[in-house]
Amino acid sequence: MLAKLLTLLMMLLSLGQDVIGQYADEMSLGGNLFLVNRDYALASDYVPNDLTRPDVQMTSSNIKMRSEAAAALEEMFQAAKDEMGYTLVAVSGYRSYGQQSAIFERKVKNVGKKAALLLVAPPGCSEHQLGLAMDLGCKRNTSLTESFINTPEGAWVAENAHRFGYIIRYKEEWTEITGYSYEPWHVRYVGKEHAQRIHALDIPLEYYIAQLQEAQFALLGE
Ligand code: DAL
Ligand code: ZN
Repeated sequence: MLAKLLTLLMMLLSLGQDVIGQYADEMSLGGNLFLVNRDYALASDYVPNDLTRPDVQMTSSNIKMRSEAAAALEEMFQAAKDEMGYTLVAVSGYRSYGQQSAIFERKVKNVGKKAALLLVAPPGCSEHQLGLAMDLGCKRNTSLTESFINTPEGAWVAENAHRFGYIIRYKEEWTEITGYSYEPWHVRYVGKEHAQRIHALDIPLEYYIAQLQEAQFALLGE
């Protein structure tokens, strides 16, 4: 992991001030790289201003995402169909603070707080409130369980989401860092350039962003 991070830092430093400056914008609220987790929460009244309904198969009619992420989702679903004949299904996209709060409270009631915290983000701490996350299923399985990875569609998503700007946000081996159990169904939009780099390096978003911030400081100090 350390070697990967050093490689990333060297690569970022070689990109120079202009590119790193552009990344700083992407890391701020409204940018595709904004980090949300239990340490970095959103305000209760944060609602993205460009929510739109992606034109894809979905389990209910009011599933929305931010517009750039929605267009990329459409591209990914089309590629799954064209290349493999697979039908992906959108299950959960943007969730308001209030909706996330209800989901979290229900889970706490069902499994207790400790277990719930591994499965559902507390209100304010979910990427779903950012409008940049989507939970995926396939025709036979929209239940959002680990078994999604054992379906051909789930395996395809794991191998190909980065081509469309999405990352698998909660991998099994990253629980200590992300705070969540394995979620093969949850994809997060970060844009193609970053998704391809994160996929190649195989590191969690937390590490990727920490490296971008370090590169920023290193360049500022020059
Ligand atoms: N299940 C993910 C962590 C969420 O609730 O945002
Ligand atoms: Zn999710």
